[in-house]
Amino acid sequence: MRLIFFGPPGAGKGTQAKRLIAELDIPQISTGDILRQHRRAGTPLGVEAQGYMDNGKLVPDDLIIAMVGERLAEDDAGVGYILDGFPRTVPQAVALDGLLKQRGQSIDRVLVLRVPDTNIIARVVGRRVCKSCGNAHHVEFNPPKVDGVCDLDGGELYQRADDTEAKVRVRLDEYTHNTAPVAAYYEQRGIVREIAGVGLIDDVFGRLKGALG
Ligand code: AP5
Repeated sequence: MRLIFFGPPGAGKGTQAKRLIAELDIPQISTGDILRQHRRAGTPLGVEAQGYMDNGKLVPDDLIIAMVGERLAEDDAGVGYILDGFPRTVPQAVALDGLLKQRGQSIDRVLVLRVPDTNIIARVVGRRVCKSCGNAHHVEFNPPKVDGVCDLDGGELYQRADDTEAKVRVRLDEYTHNTAPVAAYYEQRGIVREIAGVGLIDDVFGRLKGALG
């Protein structure tokens, strides 16, 4: 199964993807997580991406497309994947079509998580992310069992530099202008499913699985 998880920053894409990959046994390919790994490793891509990410802006398409092309060529992506945070512009969606066409593949579903902006800001500002596995907790909505420690792998939790109210407003603006049109790009193929992303994490997961049939 090849899926795209789509929605604004903080919609719950990563949270839901982590649950689904455990059931489907396919990888979660999060461009945000891959970029953060590059930054930690100090690669040229990580250095170039830093300014864009810390200011809530999108990283240029050519860098992202090359990075995703490499990731999709890895062995574990052969059985399918969840794309989380990609494609985020129409040129990225067109490039993805090109990569898939080379392999005789296509996207099965685009799952769009709908969450109002007021919920988004509360979610993002209270988010705490695991340094080792990228799992997201929330100080109020999804607190870890032990303060500062990830429930999944015991890693240290931290607050992302772009998880401030001011930065999330910039990211929402980027989403409205550059990313939202990507849903329309897929709409005509009949593979887009909209999911209410509010309510308990378990309830959203139930709706998501329902949308997958
Ligand atoms: P990225 O890391 O992809 O950030 P994002 O899209 O802004 O998404 P988030 O990770 O913020 O949110 P999410 O939807 O995964 O929510 P989560 O599950 O964590 O990208 C970061 C940056 O990298 C971008 O700004 C850009 O610079 C660059 N970038 C990445 N990809 C790019 C691309 N393709 N092109 C160009 N640039 C790119 O949940 C959020 C919080 O809410 C958590 O605390 C969680 O516990 C909580 N939560 C989840 N579900 C619920 C619920 N139902 N109720 C209450 N709380 C909930």
